[in-house]
Amino acid sequence: MNYRLAYAIGFHPWEDLAEHPPFAGTLLDLVAREEDGYGPPYGRALDLGTGSAVWAVELAKRGWEVTGIDAVEKALRRARERVEQAGVDLRLVHGDVTGLREAGVGSGFRLVVDTGTFHGLDDAQRVAMGGQVSAVAAPDATVILDCFAPRRRGPLPRGASRADVERAFPGWEIIDVEVADTEPDALARLFRFDERFYRLRRG
Ligand SMILES: C[S@@+](CC[C@H](N)C(=O)[O-])C[C@H]1O[C@@H](n2cnc3c(N)ncnc32)[C@H](O)[C@@H]1O
Repeated sequence: MNYRLAYAIGFHPWEDLAEHPPFAGTLLDLVAREEDGYGPPYGRALDLGTGSAVWAVELAKRGWEVTGIDAVEKALRRARERVEQAGVDLRLVHGDVTGLREAGVGSGFRLVVDTGTFHGLDDAQRVAMGGQVSAVAAPDATVILDCFAPRRRGPLPRGASRADVERAFPGWEIIDVEVADTEPDALARLFRFDERFYRLRRG
């Protein structure tokens, strides 16, 4: 998927999911499992492919110390506006999820969130991303990945299966799989997203 073009023409329907309770509720419930037993601040969180920082801002409001990374400058411009409007403090980095160390995101992340980036990468990029996440995540970290089911969808992300996730994160174990409900989104119905949240812990 050409995200540079998508942001240039104002096509970013994924941002609307923050207003879709079944999706937002499930994602935030998964995040809440990492907060149980802790008080804010909860620690460092990394939002991969943060886009306009919809979820990064949400995490920051909850009490996470957030870094968001994205490869598209226009998305990051929108993110900066959102961060300013929300009045939260978070760090935005221009870079690639396959080169987290090179991009200088830092390390020690207790929570790593990806809503919609991994499932659009090719196989080599997925393995690179998994390796980089392993390098920057804390020993007890949790990763939450939101993936379409694998299917050809023209220019849209091809999706990822459980096996694809396991291949890219060999040192991690999938501990939860939840339905990521994007209905009644018309695009989701047309392209049969069949979306899932995968929650991973280091094995
Ligand atoms: C479907 S959008 C989701 C954005 C955001 N996570 C959200 O839910 O609103 C995927 C995002 O991943 C970014 N992205 C795609 N490939 C990337 C890469 N290799 N490195 C960094 N960001 C990437 C895109 O620019 C885009 O903002």
